[in-house]
Amino acid sequence: MLGLGKKRHALLGVDFSAAAIKVLELSRSGSGYKVEAFAVEPLPEGAVVDKECRDAGAIGAALERAVKRSGTRLRHCAMAVPSSTIITRTLRLSSSLSQAELEGQVSVEADQYIPYNIEDVSIDFQVLGKNAANPELLDVLVVASRKEHVESRVAIAEAAKLTADLVDVEAYAVEHASSLLLDQLPDREQKPIVAVVDVGAQVTSVYVMSQEQGVIYTREQDFGGRLLTEEIMRRYDMDMQQAGNAKIHGELPPDYPVSVLEPFKQSMMDQVQRLLQYFYVTRPQDTIDQIFLGGGCASIPGIDEQLEEVTGTPVAIADPFRGMPVARRVNRQRFLNDAPATLTACGLAMRGFVG
Ligand SMILES: Nc1ncnc2c1ncn2[C@@H]1O[C@H](COP(=O)(O)OP(=O)(O)OP(=O)(O)O)[C@@H](O)[C@H]1O
Ligand SMILES: [Mg+2]
Repeated sequence: MLGLGKKRHALLGVDFSAAAIKVLELSRSGSGYKVEAFAVEPLPEGAVVDKECRDAGAIGAALERAVKRSGTRLRHCAMAVPSSTIITRTLRLSSSLSQAELEGQVSVEADQYIPYNIEDVSIDFQVLGKNAANPELLDVLVVASRKEHVESRVAIAEAAKLTADLVDVEAYAVEHASSLLLDQLPDREQKPIVAVVDVGAQVTSVYVMSQEQGVIYTREQDFGGRLLTEEIMRRYDMDMQQAGNAKIHGELPPDYPVSVLEPFKQSMMDQVQRLLQYFYVTRPQDTIDQIFLGGGCASIPGIDEQLEEVTGTPVAIADPFRGMPVARRVNRQRFLNDAPATLTACGLAMRGFVG
């Protein structure tokens, strides 16, 4: 069920966090894509805790509302498990094995690496290619997730009257969507190393990747826009929904930019810099040529310029839909605000068209 390397038809990309659920439909348009449908629906507190789906019914109901509001007709979807919940290994297996033998060998070998009972895990694999040192061997990427993570997603889809055709891994979905960001770079001949920094509601993730090697580094930290929402609630005596809306629409008292927003932006800079420093510690020989800043917090005005100043690295907003046609039914204003926060949903929706 973890869907590595399988080709399908248009799938609704469904991405959820503790805070919200997002749905996105893409179609093929020339050599690129068109945005057909999009919606975001908040999730009730407690439905997702520590990446665990505690209330599949409530998440399913929110998904059903999102599907309805988006206007999509798709009933088959792609979802993702959080990257932190999977185990990956690259195995070296004989290139003379048939597909069926390869499958058997993967589950025998995977058993040795996975700290859970093999009955409790979903396993998928993808042949990466011939081993560089020994061409008689194949490098095979094996991905394993506890079944409960996959099954809870299937149940959420069912509760929303959808079928989950594919359960991917968040980092792979972001990697897929990032191919659209790499296409936006003017100088691809230089084989740039790119960092995608996603500052969401509760989690900040960094993915460092190159076109040739895919994702070479990921790390995440508990930090996000929810801290800013909570500060707004506390200071201006608002509930969470009011604070969340006021933040996006800028309807806040005159002291807000200096007393509340500025300190948040500063701590966001500190967090992102720390995550990038961890990368440089593990790979001191590499230099990041470009940062793409995504997640809801990328929509804070001027935050890209501030990050560029702080890091000394060019920063662009991670908008995978730049230059893409958008269907008339999509709420444009909401979509423009949320575009940088849809990398995962975008990568999932793309899985319907590309491996
Ligand atoms: N225009 C804006 N200005 C400031 N903050 C914004 C804006 N738009 C969205 N946000 C904030 O971005 C956050 C949501 O980001 P995102 O959708 O990337 O998070 P998520 O994927 O739901 O959660 P996470 O990835 O942290 O689990 C919220 O805190 C929201 O208030
Ligand atoms: Mg997110």
